[in-house]
Amino acid sequence: MVEIFLEGVTKRFGKVVAVDNLTLEVKDGEFMVLLGPSGCGKTTTLRLISGLERVTSGRIYFGDELVDDGEATYVPPQRRNVSMVFQSYALFPHMNVFDNIAFPGYVRKLSREEIKKRVYEVADLLRIRDLLDRRPHELSGGQQQRVALARALMIEPSVLLLDEPLANLDAKLRVYMRAELKRIQREFGCTTIYVTHDQVEAMSMSDRIAVLNNGRLQQVGTPDELYDKPANLFVAGFIGSPPMNIIDCTLTNRKYLDFRAFKLEIPESWARVIEDRGEYVFGIRPQDIKVSREEMEGAIDFLVYVSEPLGDRVVLTLTRGDIMIKALVDPSLKAEMGEKIWVFFDFGKAHLYDKKSEKLII
Ligand SMILES: Nc1ncnc2c1ncn2[C@@H]1O[C@H](COP(=O)(O)OP(=O)(O)OP(=O)(O)O)[C@@H](O)[C@H]1O
Ligand SMILES: [Mg+2]
Repeated sequence: MVEIFLEGVTKRFGKVVAVDNLTLEVKDGEFMVLLGPSGCGKTTTLRLISGLERVTSGRIYFGDELVDDGEATYVPPQRRNVSMVFQSYALFPHMNVFDNIAFPGYVRKLSREEIKKRVYEVADLLRIRDLLDRRPHELSGGQQQRVALARALMIEPSVLLLDEPLANLDAKLRVYMRAELKRIQREFGCTTIYVTHDQVEAMSMSDRIAVLNNGRLQQVGTPDELYDKPANLFVAGFIGSPPMNIIDCTLTNRKYLDFRAFKLEIPESWARVIEDRGEYVFGIRPQDIKVSREEMEGAIDFLVYVSEPLGDRVVLTLTRGDIMIKALVDPSLKAEMGEKIWVFFDFGKAHLYDKKSEKLII
């Protein structure tokens, strides 16, 4: 059992700063997800933790033990008791499934009995016991994925690092494996760091999520914390689907948010916090917009630009002047394209960001 602490970790490749002053604590047994767009430094962070790369500056600790300080101290990968599963499963094509799973046991010179016991154990857990005689090319993608995972688990790692392990699976198998992985992680209780650019995966599997952009940590918190209170505009736009509506505005007379195409009177609680002048960004989730065909008090009329049914919900794209927003509504609303519709913004669910710093104000 181990907790991992990254203290001001920076990794440079020539001029590229792949990881920029990252401080992050992963608790013992925690399921931490690193979430962010392509190139934000997720894989590099995993490779630093596993010891495949060395930090340029900063420190990495496993529990109390300093494992890398970019200088004299460096504990190599094989002494970190870490298992990493790469996105490309990297199975040995000439070996059958049993030997693929057993391989780290051979490397560690475990006894034959011990290896057999562990392979059967993880194979049962991942429900691949009947595949042990097959070669990788005789397996489906999802089965190969589970073999790669079994191989990572057979050494009973204290730290499990997973790099987009479900990216190559079809949608149905991905949903199934998401739940399986979460269950297995709980069962093993190993500290797990899981990399993905898929926010749904991150939300559904993690204890906590660390959002990265351009090598920098944007926010770390539970899925609920990130969803309810995105600390900046990047996180606000990244978490949630469809994403949060983000609209530029200014404050006038300390009383109205001016969107040019319309104005909203702000509640007392907002007036106390915001300055008279300045540029702001108003944020509200499509779920939190109330829409009606009847006029409501305090509502603004918009036009239905397009309506996309999802079955249980409908995504409405609405316009007024140069403003375009999305609302998630009940299918019974039956809004037609081009129709006028009333929109109510619930300030209790809305956020305000500073336009310049992009940081959360309310
Ligand atoms: N060995 C390397 N040499 C030079 N630049 C590198 C190297 N490895 C990564 N980079 C750069 O560092 C940045 C972060 O890369 P990284 O692979 O960590 O991103 P990522 O978040 O895993 O992206 P993806 O989602 O596409 O896998 C990128 O700009 C990448 O081009
Ligand atoms: Mg990557």
